Formats: sequence, structure tokens, C-alpha cells
Amino acid sequence: MQVERLKINYKTLEEFKKFKEYGVQELSMLEDLQENIIEDNCDSPFYGIYYGDKLVARMSLYERSAKYDLYFDPPQNYLELWKLEVLPDYQFKGYGKKLVEFAKSFGVPIKTNSRMKSKEFWEKMGFQTVTYDMDRDLGQNPLVWYPEGVKEKKQTAN
Ligand code: COA
Repeated sequence: MQVERLKINYKTLEEFKKFKEYGVQELSMLEDLQENIIEDNCDSPFYGIYYGDKLVARMSLYERSAKYDLYFDPPQNYLELWKLEVLPDYQFKGYGKKLVEFAKSFGVPIKTNSRMKSKEFWEKMGFQTVTYDMDRDLGQNPLVWYPEGVKEKKQTAN
């Protein structure tokens, strides 16, 4: 099993329809492609794993700049991971872990937003819950992974 950067093309967008978390992001990619705003086969923020020619697991990764970092000490560039999903017939076979390990291989901190039922998975992957900050985390359930030398940013009272 090998992690690949996914290209935006009609085939990938068709594969995306099998995932539960299909929404505005995918629809806007489809529109951009149809209206020639983006080129066929350009890189997407998604990474995935194929089983044969079927996409069975995917995640989105986005690099956030240190300027916007409210989570880590020292402040630094980090990755935001979202839409990690493994198709039902392929769960519990290591695909999710493989994608998360790929994200960790960049060596920068990672932030994700856990769905209620997947918390145990994230804990197994070494992610930790941050101290909840209402202003920052409103409506979110952030989980983070710290590479060596990085700590949680302590909240200052304001
Ligand atoms: N609860 C508890 N442990 C879980 C888990 C879950 N929902 N999903 C995976 N794990 C554990 C595995 O047992 C495995 O443990 P091990 O290393 O001790 O063997 C480890 O996490 C890695 O599992 P992996 O096979 O890589 O998980 P996955 O490929 O199934 O990916 C999800 C995990 C959550 C991304 C995937 O199952 C998914 O997309 N699920 C659908 C959405 C969701 O959130 N479901 C939650 C369950 S209803």
C-alpha cells in the first residue's frame, strides 16, 4: 500500500463520491475543472491509497503558516489534516494509519479535528487533545501531534 498525491481530474472526482465526507470542497473542485479554472491533472490537497485502481482511503493536508499558528510552542508552520476516511470494506486494515504516518513524515506538527467516534484511533496514532480554548476552538474538537521539540502553546489569559 502506497500513499499518492491525488490529481484533480474527472476520474478522481468520481472516486471521491464514494466517501461520506463529500461536500463543498469536492464540488468546487469539479466546478473549477468544468470551467477550466484549474487544469486537468493538477495537484489536489488530497493524498490517497489505491487498491487496484479503486481509491479506498484519502485525507486532505494543508500547510498553515506560522503566522496563523495558535497551537504550538514555538509557533511554526504546521499541517492541517482533514477528511481522513477509509471506505467501510477497507477499515481496520492499516490504511488510516498509513496515511497518518505519511503526514507525520513531513516532521512538522499536525492539527486535526476529530469526529466523535474516531478519537480512539487518533490516540493510537499519538495525537493529543489540546486544552480547550473557546475563542480559538469554538465548535471544534482539535487533536494535535507534536514532533520532537514542540509543545502545546500555553494559553494566556486575555
Ligand atoms: N475505534 C478504535 N480503534 C480504532 C478505530 C476506531 N474507530 N479505527 C481504527 N482503530 C485502531 C485499529 O484497531 C488499529 O489499532 P492497532 O494498531 O492496535 O491494530 C489502529 O487504530 C490503526 O487502524 P487502521 O486500520 O489504520 O484504521 P482505518 O484504516 O480503519 O482508519 C478511520 C481509521 C477512523 C480513519 C477509518 O476507520 C474511517 O474512515 N472510519 C469511518 C469514519 C469514522 O470515524 N468511523 C469511526 C467508527 S464508527
